[in-house]
Amino acid sequence: RRGVIFAQLWHVGRVSHTSLQPGGEAPVAPSAIRADNVKVFIETGPGTGTLADPSTPRALSTKEVKELVELYAQAARNALDAGFDGVELHCANGYLVNQFISAHTNQRDDEYGGSLQNRLRFLREITLAVAGVVGKERVGVRFAPLFATTDEDRVYLGLVEEDPHQTYIEAVKILEEVGIAYLSLAEADWENAPELPETFREAVRKTFSGKIIYAGKYTAERGNRVIRAGWGDLIAFGRPFIANPDLPARIANNWPLNPVDPSTM
Ligand SMILES: Cc1cc2nc3c(=O)[nH]c(=O)nc-3n(C[C@H](O)[C@H](O)[C@H](O)COP(=O)(O)O)c2cc1C
Repeated sequence: RRGVIFAQLWHVGRVSHTSLQPGGEAPVAPSAIRADNVKVFIETGPGTGTLADPSTPRALSTKEVKELVELYAQAARNALDAGFDGVELHCANGYLVNQFISAHTNQRDDEYGGSLQNRLRFLREITLAVAGVVGKERVGVRFAPLFATTDEDRVYLGLVEEDPHQTYIEAVKILEEVGIAYLSLAEADWENAPELPETFREAVRKTFSGKIIYAGKYTAERGNRVIRAGWGDLIAFGRPFIANPDLPARIANNWPLNPVDPSTM
């Protein structure tokens, strides 16, 4: 069978550093609020680097936000020209689109900030723009809804949501309206990470008619449970795949898995 490859379009927003920016300028973000609890990789010399605190970003002007929407469309065009089958919009893990969605990182007073619908406007516009270029059936979106239970979770990447259920179901409604191919849900993957509530999984399924992918600390057994419950269509594996390039065969045959070696990640 033929494989399919989607290119993930990723803008990090504030999760960056002046040394990585043209002219050593500040990174851009919805609002000038520095990211905490996250490190960025910077170059210290040819082929070598280190982890550093992110720099304080500057807020994008309204005009710049609209220009970014055009840049997403151009990036999608580039991906198709390069031979990819489709594109996935990275709207997860505390990066730019996530920074627009979260009220904690988006304190804008133009049409891209304030109300939930305003905070979802950038997501809506880039999804429409990219679907206009590649076709809606070649677009995927990745979210990382975080149902924080501890203060430590709550401040993780600044992904604070007063009501993650409402925020992300409204976001999923936008994807359904545009009619994209799939929704990829990145679940919290650190130790003792909060679980996605079943009520949320059920609401996502009811709201979205495309394919739903789950990722985050899955085993074959946990994955099967999610598929059997009808909450999702596909399970994605990250770290186990790095340690086991033949992961599908290992799962199919019930073979043991190599342990993950973080030094090779
Ligand atoms: C080395 C590494 C790089 C990753 N890069 C990305 C990325 O570029 N985009 C993304 O959406 N997720 C990225 N992730 C997150 C994974 O897609 C996945 O959600 C996460 O590893 C949890 O799944 P797992 O428990 O099966 O590893 C990365 C994870 C690892 C370990």
